[in-house]
Amino acid sequence: MRALFKTTLAGVFLAATIGLSFGVSAQVLSLRGDRPLDAADDMAPDRHKQETASGGFERSWKLQPPTIPHNIDNDRITLKENTCLNCHSEANFKKEKAPKIGDSHFIDREGNKLADMNQRRHFCSQCHVPQLDASPLVENTFAGAK
Ligand code: HEC
Ligand code: HEC
Repeated sequence: MRALFKTTLAGVFLAATIGLSFGVSAQVLSLRGDRPLDAADDMAPDRHKQETASGGFERSWKLQPPTIPHNIDNDRITLKENTCLNCHSEANFKKEKAPKIGDSHFIDREGNKLADMNQRRHFCSQCHVPQLDASPLVENTFAGAK
């Protein structure tokens, strides 16, 4: 009987704690504010034009994946194809006058140097991203190290 009472008490306490934390989380606003996802008059996101830079963008530190200085709207990276390699692969870069994929792209996870690009690098945009002139969503004091 006593044990049952304790369990019940623990249950009540747990429920109160959960209730409390729900109360708290309701006050946290996301970046979209308190607008419901299905709001009919929802604002369209701002559209920014992609920035390009002839000669490439400056890197913030030596081994940073360089950001993409050209348009990639027509590029496709799928399981079957990667159009970035039409210009950046070892076989094509000279002809296309494009920089060759980095030396690190030929090294496997054991540190062996491979003849071809390591497939861990297939999804280029996992590391290389285009640039937009948009104001940061949150304050950012990052400064590059050279
Ligand atoms: C039609 C050829 C072509 C295609 C396709 C292409 N690139 Fe490029 N890329 C270039 C050329 C040329 C440059 C050099 C531009 C310059 O420096 O002015 C370049 C520069 C870059 C750089 C900057 C390198 C540095 O050291 O600053 C990155 C990163 C890059 N491309 C990634 C990509 C990715 C990722 C894709 C696919 C989504 C891609 N490129 C598709 C031709 C291409
Ligand atoms: C896991 C992250 C990652 C992926 C995926 C990746 N890269 Fe890179 N890339 C880097 C880093 C880091 C560097 C700078 C170090 C170096 O040069 O190896 C770099 C450098 C480069 C450079 C400049 C090389 C130079 O000599 O200046 C080009 C061009 C490039 N990558 C293209 C690509 C393309 C195209 C793909 C997809 C086929 C790709 N990368 C996939 C991280 C990545």
